Amino acid sequence: MKVLKRTHMCGELTSSDIGRLVTLNGWIAKRRNLGSLIFCDIRDKTGITQIVFDDSITDEMRAVAEKLRSEYVVGVIGTVKERQSKNNALATGDIEVFVSEILVYSEAETPPIYIKDDDVVDDNLRLKYRYLDLRKQKMQKNLMLRHQVSKLARDYYSEQGFTEIETPILIKPTPEGARDYLVPSRVNPGAFYALPQSPQMFKQLLMVSGTDRYFQLAKCFRDEDLRADRQPEFTQIDLEMSFVDVDDVIEAQEGFLKKLFKDVMNVDISLPLPRLTYDEAMERYGCDKPDTRFGFELKKLNHLVENCGFAIFENAIAAGGDVRGICIQGGSDAFSRKDIDKLQDATKQYGAKGLVWIRQNGNDITSSVNKFFTQDSLMDILRVFGANDTDLVLIVADKPKVVFDSLSFLRREIAKRLNIIDESLYNLLWVVDFPLFELDEETGDYSAMHHPFTSPREEDIKFLRTEPGKVKAKAYDIVLNGVELGGGSIRIHDKDLQRTMFDILGIPEEEIDNKFGFLIEAFKYGVPPHGGLAFGLDRLVMLLAGEQSIREVIAFPKNQSAQCPVSEAPIPVTEDVLDELGIRIK
Ligand code: AMO
Repeated sequence: MKVLKRTHMCGELTSSDIGRLVTLNGWIAKRRNLGSLIFCDIRDKTGITQIVFDDSITDEMRAVAEKLRSEYVVGVIGTVKERQSKNNALATGDIEVFVSEILVYSEAETPPIYIKDDDVVDDNLRLKYRYLDLRKQKMQKNLMLRHQVSKLARDYYSEQGFTEIETPILIKPTPEGARDYLVPSRVNPGAFYALPQSPQMFKQLLMVSGTDRYFQLAKCFRDEDLRADRQPEFTQIDLEMSFVDVDDVIEAQEGFLKKLFKDVMNVDISLPLPRLTYDEAMERYGCDKPDTRFGFELKKLNHLVENCGFAIFENAIAAGGDVRGICIQGGSDAFSRKDIDKLQDATKQYGAKGLVWIRQNGNDITSSVNKFFTQDSLMDILRVFGANDTDLVLIVADKPKVVFDSLSFLRREIAKRLNIIDESLYNLLWVVDFPLFELDEETGDYSAMHHPFTSPREEDIKFLRTEPGKVKAKAYDIVLNGVELGGGSIRIHDKDLQRTMFDILGIPEEEIDNKFGFLIEAFKYGVPPHGGLAFGLDRLVMLLAGEQSIREVIAFPKNQSAQCPVSEAPIPVTEDVLDELGIRIK
């Protein structure tokens, strides 16, 4: 079949094209038959143009035009004319194309979903017919934005002396803390590859190899529970640098972010970006990825309430916990008792057993704990927050983790409900000085907060054996509007220090050899000091696109059950295939 050679894309024509004979290819988006005039919208990834069949066309062509339906794929030749009733909402709204020739490339059945940006449809249906969903202008825009960000990353890091290198996909498990996807090896029965959770160990090997600066748009695979900002298969902008310390890695990324925001969003970000230590982030926001577009900062109340007579507060502190609160400015009227009860219920998911509230009405202070506190002591608490008549103070007393998780949730939830978040802000910040270890309260064991190759700060090395909980890491996260965009660290390049780390983590010799032996071996032959970072590309594009889920910026994402609804993977395989792999299903 003949294909018309197009002169323009469907989103391109403007009044400066009036009088031109043009050729467009695309999908029929809409058709209106007004008797002597037939109007259609023709759509491609750049936009839509209105085309018109008037009474000058042949009967044969009219018959074709009358049969056109949504999603037919056509090519048209016609003349651009000024539109009588202009459509300002449309880039091409000043013109229309009077068709003189049309070719129907293919017909289409009625699509199972509407090709409309704002159509509300069941997510599973959207994902099953993703190729139709992707015809939406918004989705095409998202894909183009993703391309733009990837290209900018490639260009930027290349210019900075980074070499793009592909690392293998069939590897040994990488220690990023999630479950691995395993791939059976046919030629080595009973043995499995793991898909990379990240290129971590290979990028470190590249530093041993003298590559100096590496980057990659790396596919990563993690078998973990799905959330709006998590997919089992996602992409990192991954990089590693030799002969660097924390500031060098941070500086290189800030250059990228500055260019990215300028070129893609036309937003100027000022450098250096703010840095918060992990401890400060927890104290002020209750989490290590704070959204700083709004206040409601946490305040510690232990000193005021440790002997207050109210058992819940006292016991929490005696058990090593905390009493902390937030003040919602203007929240007094916005939240009824019923609303607060609902917030309290919601904090249960973080382990909170209760939520204390205090508000002031003139001279009268009301609260959920009035019978345990004098008005004066309640006033003392309000004073910590600088609270006034219109404010609401919410307090949680529990183990530090429960207090932080609950208050951090309340901060975000309440800011959302009060609609006070300025969506035009891009608050980027670094969180630095993470603890090196995380303590499992139940087993008393330490695990690596980042991964076991992360270097402690020099000044903390002396505490490694005696007080591991006190040791801070040369690890940093980049946070944007409350989302962890990326993270990285300076790595240990001293083999004795690495041994000590494994020791503290309680990883037996055999497991070390089995899991990381090849990296330790490589370090014997001359390893430069090195460090790096990985951005989550999907999360970055999601935030730039103003989307709520990374699924909106991934062409073919997995659903909640980690399935690909288009191809229906994963699928069972036949006995023959399993036999060949030496596998039996339990
Ligand atoms: P980390 O595990 O912090 O570090 O991952 C880096 C970034 O990758 C993104 N990310 C994800 N995005 C979508 N879905 C997921 N399931 C998912 N998991 C992580 C996040 C995160 O900040 N090798 C180290 C980096 C380094 O140390 O250089 C690593 O992978 O945006």
